[in-house]
Amino acid sequence: MISSILALSLSWALQVHAAAIPSSATAEGLSLSPGLQNILSNTDNNDAYTYPTDLTRGIIPKPIHSHNDYWRDVPFYSALSVGAVSVEADVSLINGTLYIGHELSALTDARTLKSLYIDPILDVLKRENPTTKFVTTPTRNGVFDTSSGQTLYLFIDLKTNGTTTWPVVVEALQPLRDAKYLTTWNGTAVTPGPVTVIGTGNTPLNQIAPLSQRDYFFDANLALLNSSQANITSGISPVASTQFSRYIGEVEGAALNDTQLSILRSQLKLAASKGIVGRYWDTPSFPISTRNSVWKTLIEEGVGLLNADDLPEAAGFGGINGYW
Ligand SMILES: *[C@@H]1O[C@H](CO)[C@@H](O)[C@H](O)[C@H]1NC(C)=O
Ligand SMILES: *[C@@H]1O[C@H](CO)[C@@H](O)[C@H](O)[C@H]1NC(C)=O
Ligand SMILES: *[C@@H]1O[C@H](CO)[C@@H](O)[C@H](O)[C@H]1NC(C)=O
Ligand SMILES: *[C@@H]1O[C@H](CO)[C@@H](O)[C@H](O)[C@H]1NC(C)=O
Ligand SMILES: *[C@@H]1O[C@H](CO)[C@@H](O)[C@H](O)[C@H]1NC(C)=O
Ligand SMILES: *[C@@H]1O[C@H](CO)[C@@H](O)[C@H](O)[C@H]1NC(C)=O
Repeated sequence: MISSILALSLSWALQVHAAAIPSSATAEGLSLSPGLQNILSNTDNNDAYTYPTDLTRGIIPKPIHSHNDYWRDVPFYSALSVGAVSVEADVSLINGTLYIGHELSALTDARTLKSLYIDPILDVLKRENPTTKFVTTPTRNGVFDTSSGQTLYLFIDLKTNGTTTWPVVVEALQPLRDAKYLTTWNGTAVTPGPVTVIGTGNTPLNQIAPLSQRDYFFDANLALLNSSQANITSGISPVASTQFSRYIGEVEGAALNDTQLSILRSQLKLAASKGIVGRYWDTPSFPISTRNSVWKTLIEEGVGLLNADDLPEAAGFGGINGYW
């Protein structure tokens, strides 16, 4: 089942790549001599042209947050296939199980935090960290074969009571913890790992901030870092996010006005001074010209993660404009 899912999403990845990176990314579409074409077709399935960690080869990581990830048929793999470095799982705790979905009517028995995120992430990381006679000490490579030091941000958005749901999430991370794949905080410093877990939605700050040993973080409010959340550090919140429509406002016409631009800049500047990466959600999605102009402003002003509901569009947008 995994392999058919991968075949599907990776072939999609190749299409997206072909659009975003026009040169040399695929052999298809190039004019090759019949002799070379013959050699290429005969290398299919030949051991000399595959390697243990090639599952995500050719996928270039991009600073994209796959928002509302659960909409996609294969949420984590879809994000991985376009190179999005950040995914979001909406979870509801019901009868002891963490189900995935934006609202109760969307939940099913099969769609859980374990089945849609923890297990597939672990599977990819195991492939990227193989045990072979060439690897003598355990590696902690990330999910992207082209950039093994790149962490995957896993946002976990609690939809049910945070006080009772968060401890169950922490327990669900155990397989990733056992494999030493999580980014950790030891009271003084962050040690980056292949996966950085960030609680959002109803996640309780008081179950995260006071702990001196942990492998999870809190999504602070980017707009409140100068007021009620002024004491939040990058050790608590490596990323801070806020609702664009609420704190920056509606965009009239094509671009942010001067007031909006100055609010955006002050928020991102303050975050940067604390070593915190900024992200805006609920940015304009329509008309496309406004969406693109806001994306351009956000990238040029230095957001760390571009929130995207449409992954191929966002991946292609950055490619066409030369951002990645
Ligand atoms: C939760 O448990 C109760 C009692 O066993 C059961 O009636 C209910 O259907 C369960 N709900 C779900 C979503 O499994
Ligand atoms: C969440 O659960 C805790 C513990 O059961 C309870 O004290 C608290 O009131 C609940 N919060 C909400 C918003 O229901
Ligand atoms: C925390 O981790 C940092 C970075 O690895 C290390 O330099 C430091 O000694 C650690 N501190 C404690 C208290 O373990
Ligand atoms: C930050 O300040 C608030 C009060 O404004 C306090 O409740 C909270 O514990 C503080 N957090 C940290 C991490 O110091
Ligand atoms: C900028 O846009 C915001 C949100 O639409 C609006 O409230 C504000 O009045 C505008 N400011 C200027 C100077 O146009
Ligand atoms: C915090 O910054 C926002 C702009 O991002 C500004 O509107 C607000 O007045 C500031 N609050 C404080 C307490 O400085």
